[in-house]
Amino acid sequence: MQRRQFIRLVGGGTVAAAFAGCSTDYPAAAVAAWQGPADGADLRRWALGYAILAPNSHNRQPWIADLREPSSITLFVDRERLLPQTDPWFRQIVVSQGTFVESLVIALRERGIDPRVQFFPDGEFEPHGIDDRPVARISWQPGQPPAPKDPLFAQLLRRHTAKVDYDMTRPVAPATLESLRGSQVDAGVRFGATVDPSRVETLRELCWQSAQVELLTPRTVMESVRLTRVGPDEIARHRDGITINGWFPRLANALGAFDRSAPPAEGSAAYKQMMSRFEGHSRSAMGFVWLSTPTAEHAAARTTRSAELRAGRAYMRLQLAATELGLQMHPMSQALQEFEEMKPHYERLHQLLEGRPAAESTVQMFCRVGHCEDQAHAPRRELDAIIRG
Ligand SMILES: Cc1cc2nc3c(=O)[nH]c(=O)nc-3n(C[C@H](O)[C@H](O)[C@H](O)COP(=O)(O)O)c2cc1C
Repeated sequence: MQRRQFIRLVGGGTVAAAFAGCSTDYPAAAVAAWQGPADGADLRRWALGYAILAPNSHNRQPWIADLREPSSITLFVDRERLLPQTDPWFRQIVVSQGTFVESLVIALRERGIDPRVQFFPDGEFEPHGIDDRPVARISWQPGQPPAPKDPLFAQLLRRHTAKVDYDMTRPVAPATLESLRGSQVDAGVRFGATVDPSRVETLRELCWQSAQVELLTPRTVMESVRLTRVGPDEIARHRDGITINGWFPRLANALGAFDRSAPPAEGSAAYKQMMSRFEGHSRSAMGFVWLSTPTAEHAAARTTRSAELRAGRAYMRLQLAATELGLQMHPMSQALQEFEEMKPHYERLHQLLEGRPAAESTVQMFCRVGHCEDQAHAPRRELDAIIRG
């Protein structure tokens, strides 16, 4: 049936029409933000033009920037853009606010402004909840003496997360990891790294095992399936989520063979592709880096959410520093996800990385590192989509 449908489509020119232009590039408007903001733009819009390029979980871009107060930007979580199945405590969403804040600060420094960053100005969210209070207020006094620029600014338009297998003939030098450590400015966020072959092998295996838990648990894989944008039309319409623009998935989509209403059936082409992608990423890790924060200390001080913001800021600096060094860095968050089925991997990863349970030290970011060709930038929505006021 499917074969006959395929032949009919090809014969009728439908497939040719679907792929007119023969390009796997993302639609220009979807990646226009990577050209950087216009020079003449208002200062806050200019700086926000860099902040929206921050890495963020599932490219949800879960930000609202309120500009109603002059010389200040108040950041809120866009609660329409959460990931409740894979991120039930919204920890990754809060980390993704931290990456935004750090990019914003780096951009403002480029314009001579040293902003004051106040986390949770109206009080901190509950450790496992999110509400409508602001996440951060970034403010400054106009006319202050110029602040020193941050050299990482040069990497903001270059940075990206390369989601392909890494080149297994190119090891990562321990000295490279040490240079990454130098990008860190917050002593409250611990940096860890390894390229030790036996440790790397164990962690590769754990990545793959934990990926299988996410992919084979219907409600968690469906969260990703619903956010998958296949082909230029869907990518241009949403400009977020998981973007796929290769020929084969586009063909499958045009044929109606990419079902969005159920997890990919075991043995199907979509299933095999999904599994081999995660396995390839896991097994081609050439090293790992991670960031952690003390758990009990923050719980006692009621600063669990601030710790996540700080980790996000630290991660932003880490990935920019990696970009500067020509190193790829890709978060592998599966084992850090707090849903029930993941618990054994969650605890094991904490023991492997920190030698302590998660109750003592929370790993906030866990990433593979390695080398590959630079990849296309991920789409971003228009700046106006996140601005309030
Ligand atoms: C908190 C956090 C968790 C992330 N976890 C993953 C992950 O598990 N797998 C993955 O492929 N990318 C992960 N990413 C990377 C995002 O998917 C990526 O930043 C987003 O798609 C935008 O792409 P870009 O970084 O190339 O701009 C994560 C990013 C953040 C900030």
